[in-house]
Parts: sequence; structure tokens; C-alpha cells
Amino acid sequence: MPYYLAPSILSADFLTLGQQIKDAEMAGADWIHIDVIDGHFAPNLTMGPFVVSACRRATQLPLDVHLMVADPDRLIEAFAQAGATSLTVHVETCPHLHRTLTRIRELGCGVGVALNPGTPASAIEPVLHLVDLVLVMSVNPGFSGQEFIPEVLPKIAELRKKLNKINPPAVIEIDGGITPETLLRSLKVGTQVFVAATSVFKHPDGIAAGVQSLREVFPPQ
Ligand code: DX5
Ligand code: ZN
Repeated sequence: MPYYLAPSILSADFLTLGQQIKDAEMAGADWIHIDVIDGHFAPNLTMGPFVVSACRRATQLPLDVHLMVADPDRLIEAFAQAGATSLTVHVETCPHLHRTLTRIRELGCGVGVALNPGTPASAIEPVLHLVDLVLVMSVNPGFSGQEFIPEVLPKIAELRKKLNKINPPAVIEIDGGITPETLLRSLKVGTQVFVAATSVFKHPDGIAAGVQSLREVFPPQ
């Protein structure tokens, strides 16, 4: 299975967002991860469809939109229209999860389901056949720059095993506290997609160095 690096623009400099995305792309980013946070489901207030459509003009890379919002059903259509490639909703926010995931598929986007560090793998078991990606949070959602929670690693191994039986092409994405060291640990237990905000956009030697330091850990593909 291939591996993908998904820099999160949550730590980008928004004064020069287009250029920062291009720098990440040139350095070898595979997807651009966009963190939508509404101040209700998670603290912090970040970006809406307007930012997604601006990113769509800046790059051809897939836009991986992570919705950390209460009641995502109200918003998925607007994000699909803005140019999201995939839409990921949190199981903790979706009382009618099958319906929400089916709607995302109908809108023509890749389908993702996310779970917080404190949510067990069993919470998404009934929908594993419906998704293209499972996003495992390795920090509590809200802010970049938080410390990696290693207790999520066995959960990734458990989910990869289940997906191999039910839905082998689906990928597991990890999000929060990713550094070269935590990337390697999560890769070893079955992760394919790595989100990183701080390690890319706040790397002391610049964005390209941040991307390279993470890609170096990937096995040759
Ligand atoms: C957290 C977001 C993450 C965050 C990751 O709520 O979902 O994508 O930006 O930031 P780092 O890589 O700095 O932990
Ligand atoms: Zn995210």
C-alpha cells in the first residue's frame, strides 16, 4: 500500500497561504489537509468553504477536509462545492452516521470517518465498509502543536486488521503530534496517511525541510 503525507495548513502563514501550499507541494506533499473547527465540537475557530475554494485555486493536490464541527450535515454540501476531494466527519458528531457518509459519497467526495483519542475502534465498526479513509486522532482536536498520544497505536493496529477483512483498499490516516519519530511508530502499526502541521509549516529550516524530514521515514515506494 502506498503512503501519503498530508501537511495541515492549520500551522501555515495565512498571509502567504497560496505560496506555502505550493512550497509543500514542490517538496513532495501528497495531499493538503484542511482543519475545519467550529468552536463547538472542538475549541478554536478556523476555516470555512471560502478557504477550501482558495486552496483549490492554489494546487492540484487532493484537498483532504477534516470537519471538526457539530452537526456536519449542515455543511458538507458547501465544502463539496468548494472543491473538497475528501470529507471526513467525526463519529462523535454524527447521530445518523450511515446517512452522512452516504451523502458525502453522493456529493462526489472521498468518504472519511474520524475518531477522537478517547473513542474506541468499535464505534466505527458498523461503517467500515462505507469509507475510503479512517482518521485516527492522536491529539484531542482543536489545535496544532499538541503532544502525540501513544495510546492510539493499538487502536490503529486493530482498525487495520478489521479493514483488511472488510475493506482492504481503505487507508488509515493519523492526525496530531506527527514528527519523524511518531510517524515511524504509527507507520509500523498500519497507518498509510500522515497529517502534520507543526512539523511541516513550523520547521525551523522551512517547509521543504519539514516535508523532507517526514518523507525520509517512508519506506521506498
Ligand atoms: C488538530 C487538527 C490537526 C492539527 C495537527 O485539531 O486536526 O490536523 O493541525 O497539528 P500538529 O501536526 O501540529 O499536531
Ligand atoms: Zn486534522
